[in-house]
Amino acid sequence: MIEIKGVHKKFAHVEVLKGVNFTVAEGEVVCLIGPSGSGKSTLLRCINGLESYEEGDIYVLGQRVNNKDKNINNLRRQIGMVFQRFNLFPHRSVLENVMEGPIHVNGEPRSVAEKRAKALLSMVGLAEKFNAFPAQLSGGQQQRVAIARTLALQPKAILFDEPTSALDPELVGEVLQVMRTLAAEGMTMIVVTHEMHFAREVADRVCFLHSGLIVEQGSAEQVLLQPQELRTQDFLRRVLGSGGGMPPDGVQTCA
Ligand SMILES: Nc1ncnc2c1ncn2[C@@H]1O[C@H](COP(=O)(O)OP(=O)(O)OP(=O)(O)O)[C@@H](O)[C@H]1O
Ligand SMILES: [Mg+2]
Repeated sequence: MIEIKGVHKKFAHVEVLKGVNFTVAEGEVVCLIGPSGSGKSTLLRCINGLESYEEGDIYVLGQRVNNKDKNINNLRRQIGMVFQRFNLFPHRSVLENVMEGPIHVNGEPRSVAEKRAKALLSMVGLAEKFNAFPAQLSGGQQQRVAIARTLALQPKAILFDEPTSALDPELVGEVLQVMRTLAAEGMTMIVVTHEMHFAREVADRVCFLHSGLIVEQGSAEQVLLQPQELRTQDFLRRVLGSGGGMPPDGVQTCA
């Protein structure tokens, strides 16, 4: 579904992606981990055409991603993106936030958009909040609205960029739970995350990005429990505060 081949990306003269290769199959959940500044957000932005890249190819659903292409919006509609900050419209209700895209971007009839928006908000546990405004919600609730809003456009895949890192710790679990449900339903997802327990539990594959290169990838067990690369071991040691790699019995879930 997503194919990335030898992608290089520079900002001014600084190369931040240095030949990234990986593919994501339909229904696969790939967690992208790596230190700050390693290029994770840039890679996601290249995949959905928010950034250009100088070398290599990115194909989404068989179509080459080129952010100068006038059809780029068609592609973007098929690849949802959920950010660290939720960017909801503050003066619109929760329901209107979720209906906005289908009505104004996809030209759906209001009744159809409303029906799906209500179903999605119920799915993310916010059936009681249709008429609330974003400022009346917790961060976790706002992020769940943002996920429902992304789903309302019926994307083929969703890119998550640290969806829980702006949240208070006690609100992280409710957002991860929604993402778990999506993964179990077969949604294709790339998730940039520091939630290693979530990655361990949900990821079909974990890719470790370091200085613009994927230096290690494999199953969650391989990469998180038995990292082969020194750089992966160092990173995990810092993130987990342990000996590099998760203890095999440390697989508790983030409730
Ligand atoms: N618009 C930009 N202009 C110039 N440099 C940029 C721009 N966006 C990102 N960079 C640089 O590219 C590199 C990769 O940034 P990126 O945001 O992709 O990292 P990241 O892995 O997502 O980091 P973090 O974990 O902190 O979010 C960094 O050195 C950053 O400073
Ligand atoms: Mg980032």
